[in-house]
Amino acid sequence: MTKYSAPGKIILFGEHAVVYGRPALAIPVTQVHVEVDISDSARSGIWIDAPDVNLHAELNTLPSDHPIASVINNLFFLLRVSPFPNLEIKISSTIPVASGLGSGAAVTVALTRALSTHLNHSMNAEEVNVFTYEIEKIHHGTPSGIDNTVVTYARPVYFMKNEPPEMFKVGRPFTMVIADTGISALTKESVGDVRRLWMNDRARWETVFDKIGEISFTARRAIEAGKYELLGELMNENHGLLQKMTVSSPELDELVKAALHAGALGAKLSGGGRGGNMIALVEPEKAEEVSLSLKAAGAKHTIITQVS
Ligand code: PMV
Repeated sequence: MTKYSAPGKIILFGEHAVVYGRPALAIPVTQVHVEVDISDSARSGIWIDAPDVNLHAELNTLPSDHPIASVINNLFFLLRVSPFPNLEIKISSTIPVASGLGSGAAVTVALTRALSTHLNHSMNAEEVNVFTYEIEKIHHGTPSGIDNTVVTYARPVYFMKNEPPEMFKVGRPFTMVIADTGISALTKESVGDVRRLWMNDRARWETVFDKIGEISFTARRAIEAGKYELLGELMNENHGLLQKMTVSSPELDELVKAALHAGALGAKLSGGGRGGNMIALVEPEKAEEVSLSLKAAGAKHTIITQVS
């Protein structure tokens, strides 16, 4: 049996602007993950069991654009696996889908590592990352590549499109509370809406993207130096710019307000927006209190994570 897992992720700074070449910061979230187990099978075919998405099927019965089928078929094409072996694949996940926690990238990364290892075609991290990006493109249109990068390397990453990712050091551990609005929102749609805004007034939005790029740059330095008051202010500023871009929502704004009211140092939406998750930077001793306030303000669930 071959077993691999991949973590969830959150974007700390720079979502949306990253699509336009500005830097963004993301971190892995190991409290949630996807796990893939692969074993040889006595029955013929490739049997996939993914109870979290109610999937129990043989590969050939799935439509070719099914996310899991497209990973397997494209990977076997890349690795020239022919004929297809008989396998049992079990996929389990604790990452909520369509909520900005990187569940799609985590499934692809864990499945790619497990399949390539099981079939003795080992792939290094860069190869896994490039392949996962290709799969993200099939399902998300014009992804920047940040999700696949942070999930593949499972380290805090300073990311710019089409540049090698830079890993950075966390000067002093910090604590984040992640809260889920429970509303699933398609990143493709918010990215499309931002593109329409940009096409109608490029000069205005380029200035906004520049500001966000500067925030990401300054935030990286603040994390490296352990200056968390500043980091909180940068989160608030970044959230304001995301609101201008129309990618926040009343529910996200409500959670941001509740976190700040409960004593968070800063808060913002994370990821594509409109729904999904928000994040709050907190002193460790305030984490529980902020988490409870977020639940009282409507969060469906929360995760407290320490970044180090
Ligand atoms: O919704 P998520 O967490 O997958 O984040 C998308 C981040 C965007 O910047 C909005 C899009 C992208 O491809 O970078």
